[in-house]
Amino acid sequence: MTDSVLLIGCGRMGGALLKGWRESGVVDDARVVDPALPELPGVAVVASLAEILDPLPRTILLAVKPQMLDTVLPGLKARLPTGALVISIAAGKTLSYFADRLGSEVAVIRTMPNTPAAIGRGITVCCAGAAVSAAQRATADALLCSVGQVAWTADETLMHAVTAVSGSGPAYVFLLIEALQAAAVAAGLPADLAARLARDTVTGSGELARQSSDDPAKLRADVTSPGGTTAAALAVLMAEDGLPDLMKRAVAAATARSEEMAKG
Ligand SMILES: NC(=O)c1ccc[n+]([C@@H]2O[C@H](COP(=O)([O-])OP(=O)(O)OC[C@H]3O[C@@H](n4cnc5c(N)ncnc54)[C@H](OP(=O)(O)O)[C@@H]3O)[C@@H](O)[C@H]2O)c1
Repeated sequence: MTDSVLLIGCGRMGGALLKGWRESGVVDDARVVDPALPELPGVAVVASLAEILDPLPRTILLAVKPQMLDTVLPGLKARLPTGALVISIAAGKTLSYFADRLGSEVAVIRTMPNTPAAIGRGITVCCAGAAVSAAQRATADALLCSVGQVAWTADETLMHAVTAVSGSGPAYVFLLIEALQAAAVAAGLPADLAARLARDTVTGSGELARQSSDDPAKLRADVTSPGGTTAAALAVLMAEDGLPDLMKRAVAAATARSEEMAKG
């Protein structure tokens, strides 16, 4: 249980986190700074940091858009309590970016969540700065576990690939649903049935992969009889320039874009 947490920015991702904290009870007292947010029952919401007159909570989670951080951080630095932990979910903002603006003695954890956090099924990868204690790491772990799985890496350079795989990944899966739906319509199915078959096939298969002790390759082989219909489709999808190659190129493009954006 974390006594008090300050959430700065409560849009899509911040809102998902707040929902997770409230549902799991992991946070005793959540306070929110967001100019766009209407009142929320049971949560203290203010439009700006200046409106909080008490000392700030020692755990602060930054969930504003990356481009807003330069506006938010000076005001935060001036008010940071001793022993504060700052957790950032901002894409592309490095630990050294925060050290430059808050001071290298401040404990910062950089994270990359993803949108299934909205239903408690996200996965977040975290990278802790040098000043982070074991207790602060445990606090971040508990806060992020309330919206799904949490993994840690000590190598911050991997955050580019993490962003490309799990941060952007939900978009690839939604595209798969769209593409399967369009192919179903092209194969002659009515649009509403095509939409149901595509969505429920992807989500049901995803859930089966999650619950099964078999790896995805085994699950795929289980559906594939030699010379059958699935084998005919997989011969197309797994051709030299097929889906595995396409996915590798897509992830490489996203990784390269993340590296480029980090350079400013
Ligand atoms: N969405 C994703 O897939 C995803 C995945 C991983 C990480 N992230 C990261 O999550 C962060 C938030 O993204 P999001 O999609 O949740 O954005 P969002 O929906 O735009 O939420 C940001 C919220 O912060 C508010 N805000 C703006 N300026 C503020 C200030 N000075 N103080 C406090 N709050 C302020 C915004 O209000 P206004 O609307 O009035 O500006 C908005 O409600 C980003 O840094 C992004 O990189 C997002």
